[in-house]
Amino acid sequence: MRGPSSRGDVDPFIVMQVMAAAAEREAAGGDVLHLEVGQPSTSAPKGVLAATRAALDTNLIGYTLPLGLPDLRQRIAGHYRDWYDVDVPAERIAVTTGSSGGFTLAFLSAFEHGARVALASPGYPAYRNILSALGVDVVDLPTEANDRFQPTVARLNDSGPLDGVIVASPSNPTGTMLDAPAMKAIADWCRTNDVRLISDEIYHGISFGHRSVSALESAPDALVINSFSKYFSMTGWRIGWMVVPPDLIDAVERLAANFFISPPTLSQIGATAAFDCYDEAQANVARYARNREILLNDLPSAGLTDLAPADGAFYIYANVAQHTNDSEDFCRRMLAEIGIACTPGTDFDPARGHASIRLSFAGSGEDMAEACRRLKGWL
Ligand SMILES: Cc1ncc(COP(=O)(O)O)c(C=O)c1O
Repeated sequence: MRGPSSRGDVDPFIVMQVMAAAAEREAAGGDVLHLEVGQPSTSAPKGVLAATRAALDTNLIGYTLPLGLPDLRQRIAGHYRDWYDVDVPAERIAVTTGSSGGFTLAFLSAFEHGARVALASPGYPAYRNILSALGVDVVDLPTEANDRFQPTVARLNDSGPLDGVIVASPSNPTGTMLDAPAMKAIADWCRTNDVRLISDEIYHGISFGHRSVSALESAPDALVINSFSKYFSMTGWRIGWMVVPPDLIDAVERLAANFFISPPTLSQIGATAAFDCYDEAQANVARYARNREILLNDLPSAGLTDLAPADGAFYIYANVAQHTNDSEDFCRRMLAEIGIACTPGTDFDPARGHASIRLSFAGSGEDMAEACRRLKGWL
């Protein structure tokens, strides 16, 4: 009998295994502080809930156009004017099934089989796994604390011929950001070398001190991917968007129609209302900022001294080399012995993540303080 295809043989998300182990401990009556989850601990904003409830009584909830509801695409275009002072026509917005749905459409429309696409490690694991499943070669850009764990022009110059570069700012797992000159340097390099720039901006709005810079500010032809999951606290709604360069929008529309018919209609209606809910989203960001302060203040005295800058998102990437060279075992023991769930660095950097862990501060302030207390006794 024929076996499964090698294209489906991608690495699992290790964080899912951590979540399963945490759930098992809770089912057995143990307590768990959840510093592994990469999602807000709040529901969608109230305005989103109200609009969605009302739609259930009045709207058929049928399919929409493949690129999404015209009103929502207009609101997203307005968001670029309000936040970035960038003009993007609504016709270039594609509403997607989370940013995850956007990745597949972006990569398929932009890259041939066998293309070479560079991305930073540590980085979000789905980029490399989706690219490999699609037959695109992943070119690793190993980054260091010195370059804020972000790609640099020097590293790009050393990568051989490329077809694409993916940047993520703020990044998962490090939280570090590209400032305007750093983003522009990469955008200019991509333009000079005829390389497609893809920018994952899913954590925009969640930053501490500096605003997040969109690739569109220096590269109007960049492909930008974003989502309602994080800033608007809507992970399970599975709704995101892309700003697509003019030469790709037709392909994205045809692919979207064939793959998904349309993004989820009820979630699109809710998402349209999200743009009236900035106050609630900002209150969540204020809570992340307090949580971040707790961890940055207390983790060093608990024994975690080498922390990435955490400019944005809700993660702290900690170097744990002085405690272990097996982060998966370290995280397993941390959960079993002191009830803290967190994610081993190997999820984000298969080659070097054995000496790092990611702590998420999307939860409650009490959980952050308690986690630091427990770590202090344990490390
Ligand atoms: C950097 C990054 N991009 C994309 C995603 C996918 O998010 P979604 O599909 O919910 O939009 C995540 C989820 O954690 C992420 O961390």
